[in-house]
Amino acid sequence: MTAKITVRGLRHEYVNPFTRERVTALDGVDLEVEDGEFLTVVGPSGCGKTTLLGILAGLVPATRGTVLLGARPVTGPGPDRGVVFQEFAILPWRTVERNIAHGLEIQGVPRAERAATVARFVELVGLRGFETKYPHELSGGMKQRVAVARTLAANPEVMLMDEPFASVDAQTRITLQEELNAIALATRKTILLVTHNVDEAVFLGDRCCVLSRRPGRVKTLVPVKIPRERRTWQLLTSDPSFAATKEQVLRLVREEVGAGDTA
Ligand SMILES: Nc1ncnc2c1ncn2[C@@H]1O[C@H](COP(=O)(O)OP(=O)(O)OP(=O)(O)O)[C@@H](O)[C@H]1O
Ligand SMILES: [Mg+2]
Repeated sequence: MTAKITVRGLRHEYVNPFTRERVTALDGVDLEVEDGEFLTVVGPSGCGKTTLLGILAGLVPATRGTVLLGARPVTGPGPDRGVVFQEFAILPWRTVERNIAHGLEIQGVPRAERAATVARFVELVGLRGFETKYPHELSGGMKQRVAVARTLAANPEVMLMDEPFASVDAQTRITLQEELNAIALATRKTILLVTHNVDEAVFLGDRCCVLSRRPGRVKTLVPVKIPRERRTWQLLTSDPSFAATKEQVLRLVREEVGAGDTA
């Protein structure tokens, strides 16, 4: 198999510009994400998950180590990587369809092709009938779906998601997880998703990457051997292998969380 993302010996230090104080967020991160793989990342709060995603996105420069996308070194942001952060990156002055079209407009995709692509993604994320609504007319979960559709429509090679469902209610979150699973199945995109939620990590991941406490490094990669077609909450709630994998990931994360910490 070919690696879509290769991370070697990655270290990141934040330096306070006033006090010169240093915080080592990541150290010695080695990781390979396969083409078409869905990798979920969990770990204690502050262990460097967002930093790792920022480096992969090209938004945060690594202090040491290398990151390759295919064979190309990552040196900055690019259209080959789509990013969905917790705060929905959607534009309040644009309708749903014009938000989803945004990346395509930037790429100069002709109008007719743009319209067809937008219609496909509106359908895929279940927003038909809301195409001409503005973000303030949508629920939190719907805005989140616009953000996902907008990123997918631009057709990046890799999707990087940081806690994308953290701010929606539990019921919506379950729906969005099932939708994202369906999208992963339909598009076979390489996806890296950071979450605090172990259930979510095991539900969505082909593998679940557990990071150590800060400075974060890869502690264990746990494979999730459940076919994507079977991944609905109704089926998995009573699936013994889902329960066992969840238990395993939870144990690994708990070992990294210090006493009194609840992350
Ligand atoms: N801009 C920054 N300047 C200085 N230190 C930072 C900065 N961003 C993050 N840090 C520190 O780096 C470490 C890792 O932060 P990061 O946000 O990557 O963790 P995280 O795993 O995403 O945490 P959480 O699970 O709470 O989101 C933390 O100790 C944090 O305080
Ligand atoms: Mg974070």
